Amino acid sequence: MTVKTIASIVGARPQFIKAAPVSRALASNFKEVMIHTGQHYDYEMSDLFFEEMDMREPDFNLGVGGGSHGEQTGRMLIESEKVIADLKPDCILVYGDTNSTLAGALVAAKVGIPLAHVEAGLRSYNRAMPEEVNRVLTDHVSSLLFCPTDAAVKNLEKEGITKGVHQVGDVMYDALLHNLELVRNRLSLLSQLGVKKGEYALATVHRAGNTDNQNNMQSILNALGALRTKVIFPVHPRTRRMINEWGNAINSNISLIEPLGPLDILQLQENASCILTDSGGMQKEAYLLGVRCITLREETEWVETVSTGWNKLAGVNAQSIQNLFEKWQPEGERPFLYGDGHAAEKIRQILLKELK
Ligand code: UD1
Repeated sequence: MTVKTIASIVGARPQFIKAAPVSRALASNFKEVMIHTGQHYDYEMSDLFFEEMDMREPDFNLGVGGGSHGEQTGRMLIESEKVIADLKPDCILVYGDTNSTLAGALVAAKVGIPLAHVEAGLRSYNRAMPEEVNRVLTDHVSSLLFCPTDAAVKNLEKEGITKGVHQVGDVMYDALLHNLELVRNRLSLLSQLGVKKGEYALATVHRAGNTDNQNNMQSILNALGALRTKVIFPVHPRTRRMINEWGNAINSNISLIEPLGPLDILQLQENASCILTDSGGMQKEAYLLGVRCITLREETEWVETVSTGWNKLAGVNAQSIQNLFEKWQPEGERPFLYGDGHAAEKIRQILLKELK
């Protein structure tokens, strides 16, 4: 039997994390060619992830970099089509909801190659988020839709998508279990940062809706500054640029640090008293680790983290954030919502069957 070729298209931090377990699983049956769009290009935003998770380097890097969303997505489409035309893979695999995901999906549709989407069916129902548009469009041109949750399957059903849909669990849970093992062999970042388990909060902010709005960003920083705890805040390049541009006031309890690799951030997540974030992945990781999460958005795709009582949607209102931090502790159970840690293996088996 000839070995089938799968072209994986990645480009941004969360995709490297999701691709790691899937690549490991695919290695036994497929030839996987990894195409990095270059959406994330700083060492801390890209190379560090490949190094820490022991992934081989991508086979192609399209070097697309930043720019406006249209420009960035357009360049990815142009460059990835050239690679795909030469490679002629049997399937294109994309992850999540970034501009790299959409570019990969469009290339598959234009060239006529089956598209598989890992993390299909997620919806925030907020079309102002670029990620929401990327998700919806990608799902509608996918032949195989790997959903992480039952809610995701239902969302697709509502849009008339039922064919090729598989609830496999969440590859981020696979990644988390694997990465927790790797964290055990590392030096403690906590002592380097001068904090102890349970005695600090971890914050991240990178959504355009927050970073690109001066009032929202200042409101979040005011809230963090008013917390009676140390706040460790690894700063995304976009956020750093906006904070510098606006000269936002930063209280002394907040430590702004460089973006962290997947293992260091995991260490800080695991030991934090609370995670305050606008990241989707961090909300879910907080749940899986049993750490309470205050989400700095009005809505979430990871609705189960809220309904089980482990995540609160605070938006950017400084008083709400502060009240939740001081008064709220989760009480509910944490059922297994995101699979059994073998989502990547299930994806491998389905691809084997479907690409026969
Ligand atoms: C992207 C995804 C988002 C995901 C996030 C993870 C889209 C629409 N959004 O957002 O869903 O949660 O990645 O981090 O795709 N920059 C650097 N160095 C880098 C990367 C980015 O300086 O290594 C700068 C860019 O030049 C740009 C800004 O940061 O000005 C934003 O980067 P961009 O790739 O547009 O999107 P993210 O905000 O990272």
